[in-house]
Amino acid sequence: MPLVNMSELLEEAKNGGYAVGSFSVANMEMVQGVLRAVEETQSPAIIQIAEVRLNHSPLELIGPLMVAAAENSEMPVAVHFDHGKTEEKIRQALDIGFSSVMFDGSHLPFEENVKMSSKIRRIAEEYGADTECEIGCVGGSEDGSEDIAINCSNPEEAVQICKKAKIQALAVAIGNAHGNYKKEPKLRFDILEKIANSVDVPLVLHGGTGISEADFKKCISLGISKINIATATFDSVERAVRTAYESGKIKGYYDLQTAETEGAYLNALKHIEIFGCAGKAYPDEF
Ligand code: 13P
Repeated sequence: MPLVNMSELLEEAKNGGYAVGSFSVANMEMVQGVLRAVEETQSPAIIQIAEVRLNHSPLELIGPLMVAAAENSEMPVAVHFDHGKTEEKIRQALDIGFSSVMFDGSHLPFEENVKMSSKIRRIAEEYGADTECEIGCVGGSEDGSEDIAINCSNPEEAVQICKKAKIQALAVAIGNAHGNYKKEPKLRFDILEKIANSVDVPLVLHGGTGISEADFKKCISLGISKINIATATFDSVERAVRTAYESGKIKGYYDLQTAETEGAYLNALKHIEIFGCAGKAYPDEF
């Protein structure tokens, strides 16, 4: 089964009333754990890595591994470059074979964000790849190093950026934040609903870690088609390793690898079920 484009997965999800999980990965064990859950549940999925993570997982090493894993999967899997900040790294991801990229211009003045998102979309198009951009500002930073304030998306800007930049996915800020929430998130479903009613482009929810099952389902019912999960995967891997050590299951390196894979698997499995995308792979159609 091939590596697929994100847009085909998101269009199916939008029409089918479910969301595709976009799982951040940092090493081979995490890739294997996520894809095990994907195969078992017969789901479409996206595996992703953000630019801020590259100090720990260099793109030239993890990128080809992600692409090869998607190509070898029985399920439709897209490979996504998350929170691209620089054209250089976005081009590198595209050269490696990523099937989509995000340009994160959420910190830029709106017109600048539109201009750069449009430029990246044209570059990605040359590779046959898709582009996601973001308006407003999702709180926190992807690697937890910054405490960025939440600034909700403006529905009028959503219309403008979709029209002008012609991107294939739009990340919205509706009170969501990266990392573990300090207090229970209060999502602005009213803003999400307004945006969903104004644009046709599939919408993306970042900061999936710590959002309740009920809120995930409400977001999906209001038009979210892609949900990013990072911290929950890292936490689940760490927890699985710690538990395995504490219960004496780790006798050597291979047991450590098994525990890591298991942690990523369990977390992906849980979210795939909540997002309603289990059984939605339709492998014969891809
Ligand atoms: P979390 O770390 O909160 O799951 O956010 C993931 C994310 O949005 C990656 O882009």
